[in-house]
Amino acid sequence: MELEGRIEVDDLHARLGGREVLHGVSLRVEPGEALAILGPSGCGKTVFLKHVVGLLVPHRGEVRLDGVAVHRMDPATLRSVRSQMGVVFQGGALFDSLTVGENVAFPLRRHRRLAEERVQEIVAEMLNLVDMAGTQDLLPGELSGGMRKRVGIARALVLGPKVVLYDEPTAGLDPVTARAVDRLMAFLRERTRTTTVLVTHDLLTAFAVADRIAVMEAGRIVAAGSREEIRSSRHPLVRAFLESSAVSETQGGGRS
Ligand SMILES: Nc1ncnc2c1ncn2[C@@H]1O[C@H](COP(=O)(O)OP(=O)(O)O)[C@@H](O)[C@H]1O
Ligand SMILES: [Mg+2]
Repeated sequence: MELEGRIEVDDLHARLGGREVLHGVSLRVEPGEALAILGPSGCGKTVFLKHVVGLLVPHRGEVRLDGVAVHRMDPATLRSVRSQMGVVFQGGALFDSLTVGENVAFPLRRHRRLAEERVQEIVAEMLNLVDMAGTQDLLPGELSGGMRKRVGIARALVLGPKVVLYDEPTAGLDPVTARAVDRLMAFLRERTRTTTVLVTHDLLTAFAVADRIAVMEAGRIVAAGSREEIRSSRHPLVRAFLESSAVSETQGGGRS
């Protein structure tokens, strides 16, 4: 199945450890659109993403990719669909015993049959794209948090995915590095027009990358709209997010 990149979530309920964690999440992401889900720690963002990639099965409701429910895909279809989705996991999740180059090459070796020369060429292109040119031989342990994140992004994009998912891409980074990663994600998104879903508790990241923002609180979407609509929302959690950063007054498109 060749993905176009439409994501539809209908009344998604998740139950984990005997407790309901998502209470009926519904949303749509059109091909090429970037949606941020903004919410505090523990509200269900990672659990949500795990349903999108088929790592968790809904308790009720469903996630559809191009109209097909993820939890009803046969293993071969799911594998093919996953190879068309790039996931940037929380913390980077690089293989610490593999070099940067081998980390980025990993999906290529797994899903494509390419001559070694071509693999190295693509790895170099991807590292260049994320501003990490020439770092092929370094080990993840030798990198800063921001550099690890860039390598994780290069690895997620190396197969040219139709959907990119970011889980807390700026968590644990200092503010300057976090803003640089925001700019990288916005740049890559402009360049590739890939359907993007980003979950974060960092409002600046949401505003820098997404066209639309959905605000999640305790397993529910409590507000959703364009950046402008979110900026003028009266919802208390949204106000608290806005007031904890300067975005309500100063930030426009976030592409500076
Ligand atoms: N495998 C699990 N078993 C039981 N509870 C879980 C599991 N995974 C997550 N949870 C709970 O679900 C809630 C949402 O978790 P999560 O999606 O990781 O939050 P977030 O990513 O927004 O910080 C939390 O209360 C968490 O403790
Ligand atoms: Mg999480």
